[in-house]
Order: sequence, then C-alpha cells, then structure tokens
Amino acid sequence: MPALRVAVVGGHGKTGRAVCDALGAVDVGALPLGRADWPDLAAAAAGCEAAYVIAPNLHPDEPAYVGEVLTALIEAGIRRVVYHSVASPYAPSMPHHLGKAASEDLVRRSDLDWTILQPGAYLQNLDLTAAIDLPYSPDRPFGFLDLTDLGRAAAVVLTQPGHVGATYELASRVATVRELATGAGVEVRHVPDPKTHPGLSAMFEYYDDHGLLVGTRTLAALLG
Ligand SMILES: NC(=O)c1ccc[n+]([C@@H]2O[C@H](COP(=O)([O-])OP(=O)(O)OC[C@H]3O[C@@H](n4cnc5c(N)ncnc54)[C@H](OP(=O)(O)O)[C@@H]3O)[C@@H](O)[C@H]2O)c1
Repeated sequence: MPALRVAVVGGHGKTGRAVCDALGAVDVGALPLGRADWPDLAAAAAGCEAAYVIAPNLHPDEPAYVGEVLTALIEAGIRRVVYHSVASPYAPSMPHHLGKAASEDLVRRSDLDWTILQPGAYLQNLDLTAAIDLPYSPDRPFGFLDLTDLGRAAAVVLTQPGHVGATYELASRVATVRELATGAGVEVRHVPDPKTHPGLSAMFEYYDDHGLLVGTRTLAALLG
C-alpha cells in the first residue's frame, strides 16, 4: 500500500495520464477520477490524502467546476491540493485563462494546503511527424512544456516539503513553432482560424500577437 494516495480529478485525459504515470513511478498511489465519479466526488476521493485538480479543456465555467471540486475534497477530508492552472492566467482577452485566474483565487482562499502549477503550451500539442497547419503565427515565442516534465513536477510538489503556498510557471523549453518544425524537418503553414470554438479563436488571436512566453528556470529548479 503506497504511503500517499492522490486523487487526480480529470485524471483520464492526457494531462491526468502524465500526472498518474509520474506518481506511479515514485510509488505514490494515483486515483484518476472522471465524469463517472462526478455525482459523488467526495465518496470517490475518500481514502486519498491529496488531490491534483485538472479542469476539462475550455470548460464554460471553470471557477464553478473548481469550487465544486474543492467542496468535495474538504468533505472527503483531503487537506492537500495541487491546482493545474495555465501560464499567464490573467490574460483578459482569453476567457478560459481568466477562468483559471478566478479559480486560482478560489484555491488560495480555500484554507487547504495548496500549490498552483501554471503550465505553458504542451509540446505534445504539436504533431511533428508531418507538415503542421497552424492558425497563428509560427514565429511567436512559446514556453513549451513536455508532459513528462509536468508529471515529474507534480510528483515533486506532492511528495517533497516546501511547496505549500507556491505558484510555479512551468516550461521545458522556449521556442517558436517554426523552430520546432525546422528541427523535426517538417513544414509549417500559417492557415486561417477554422473557428471551431470562440475560446480557441480568442487563444489563436492572442498567440498570433504574442505567443505565450514562459521561462524555464522554475521547472529546472524543481526537477533538479
Ligand atoms: N493543452 C495545453 O497545452 C494546456 C496547457 C496548459 C493548461 N492546460 C489545461 O489542461 C487541462 C486539461 O487538459 P487535457 O487536455 O488533459 O484534458 P482532457 O484530455 O480533455 O481531459 C479532461 C478530463 O476531464 C474530465 N471531464 C471532461 N468533461 C467533464 C465534465 N463536464 N465534468 C467533469 N469532468 C469532465 C474527463 O473525464 P472522463 O475521463 O470522464 O472523460 C477527463 O478526465 C485544461 O484545463 C487545460 O486548460 C492545457
């Protein structure tokens, strides 16, 4: 039986799988929870000492989701929580970032022992095996985060002392998409926004103007 059991809320998605794998690698018990557990999240999380909280992509009301999760964790007797936010949460032109800024505030005022991780765009969002069609400029800088590094950072903050009350921006490397594509020997084409979701369109517009720059030193320090 592992010494620590962590409920990973939203644990079946690509983020959650990376966190669960990394926890398993350091002998922490990871309990992934998804939609099926939602009707009674407190009961589903019972027996865990800590939680890692991931909201679904582009949730229409992330603060409401996070608020419900925090209430359920408290009901389950869990004191330690790590919230998966985003780099630059206070970006008023991106509503889903603002939802994370408001959720961070709920986490900080929850009275729980919290840590907040602010990941950059995942390297794994890009398929570098074929030509990339990109609905924003390939020449803007990003702090990209490798999901394996995210998992390792989550394991560090959950298993080592000194991370309660900390907020960490996380990126594995800084690059433009063109630099990544060139390194992989594939072409990148700047294409129009397919306009599949207003939240995504707002994000593409922001990326087109600014990229999403994140420094790499915090992650390097965490992972030693
Ligand atoms: N992609 C990036 O570059 C990036 C960067 C920074 C931050 N993030 C953030 O990472 C988070 C998760 O991303 P992801 O790609 O891992 O997500 P994902 O693969 O879509 O996984 C979402 C998880 O949430 C659960 N879920 C979906 N809808 C739900 C609902 N209505 N109520 C309760 N649970 C629900 C799913 O449950 P089931 O198991 O039941 O399907 C699944 O476990 C997002 O908040 C995103 O903003 C992403």
